[in-house]
Amino acid sequence: MIELIDPISKQRLEESPEGLRNENGIVVYPLINGAYRVAASDNYTSNFGLEWNTFQKTQIDKFSGNTVSEERLFAQTNWQKNGLEGETILEVGSGAGRFSQIMLDHTKATLYSVDYSEAVEANYRNNGPHERFKLFQASIYELPFKQASFDRVICLGVLQHTPDFKASVKALVEMVKPGGELVIDFYPIRNVFTKVHGKYLLRPILKRVNHHRLMSLIRNNIDFLISIYTFNRRIGLGVFNRFVPICEIERTLPKGMTPEQLKEWIILDTFDMFSPEYDQPQRLSTVAKWVKEFGMADVDASWVTYHGKLEAPTVRGRKV
Ligand SMILES: C[S@@+](CC[C@H](N)C(=O)[O-])C[C@H]1O[C@@H](n2cnc3c(N)ncnc32)[C@H](O)[C@@H]1O
Repeated sequence: MIELIDPISKQRLEESPEGLRNENGIVVYPLINGAYRVAASDNYTSNFGLEWNTFQKTQIDKFSGNTVSEERLFAQTNWQKNGLEGETILEVGSGAGRFSQIMLDHTKATLYSVDYSEAVEANYRNNGPHERFKLFQASIYELPFKQASFDRVICLGVLQHTPDFKASVKALVEMVKPGGELVIDFYPIRNVFTKVHGKYLLRPILKRVNHHRLMSLIRNNIDFLISIYTFNRRIGLGVFNRFVPICEIERTLPKGMTPEQLKEWIILDTFDMFSPEYDQPQRLSTVAKWVKEFGMADVDASWVTYHGKLEAPTVRGRKV
């Protein structure tokens, strides 16, 4: 069992059907729609609340019919399928729960999933209730758990969207118990051209557009954008697609989807590209250095390949 701690008062918390109670029996963080609400929703992740509640099922293997999340998770972690009995995993930034589903369905561990946004509602609808699953709306910087508690801590696709990447890595390392494991991935800085991209040119404007309006703008123009993207590739000018305001299709999306599914993923990923408050890629080597600095050994930083040619820059380590 993981000891629950109020990140503000540092008092011990107990679970109850109404919420998390402090030592005086008062519910300090209510349980609403399946998640303990340690944080309020009016924070910088409201775009993700909209994104994952709109595209609740899109990327969840058990609904999409593909196995891309399963392939990615096991390629990045090297965990044994159907293993980890009796262990605890902390997942930070769970979104709609694509990886929560895989950890619940393909390991025997107990999963504590955290997200700062209302995405926790989508995750609960996708994966709850479940006897090995606990869900918290909380920030990576104010986690309601005793430090050094978890056998494994995992954080996929999140760190670049936090305001202080290095402080976020530190917060994750602090949650791993001695001998336990950390697995993280993030947007990489590949070279000096990483930020010479339509995404980084337009984000300062588009991230300020009302999120519902931005979603409609993308939906209303997506067919046109896809046709430009496809045309550029057909005539050998795919290199210019980095300036077309649409997500990368070949290098990031799974194969074998129906045209409707593909369009849905493209709208999701394009919204995900422009709407976040923060988008701060990092070098693999820098993150590996931080992970060591915060007390991890056996650090491995590598590009993990999964689902054919998809790649994820991944850092793993063991807590000393
Ligand atoms: C791009 S989504 C990735 C979701 C999921 N891991 C996936 O791969 O589908 C990033 C998630 O990180 C969450 N997030 C951002 N800042 C956070 C913070 N400070 N604490 C916890 N979660 C955070 C967002 O709310 C969002 O759901």
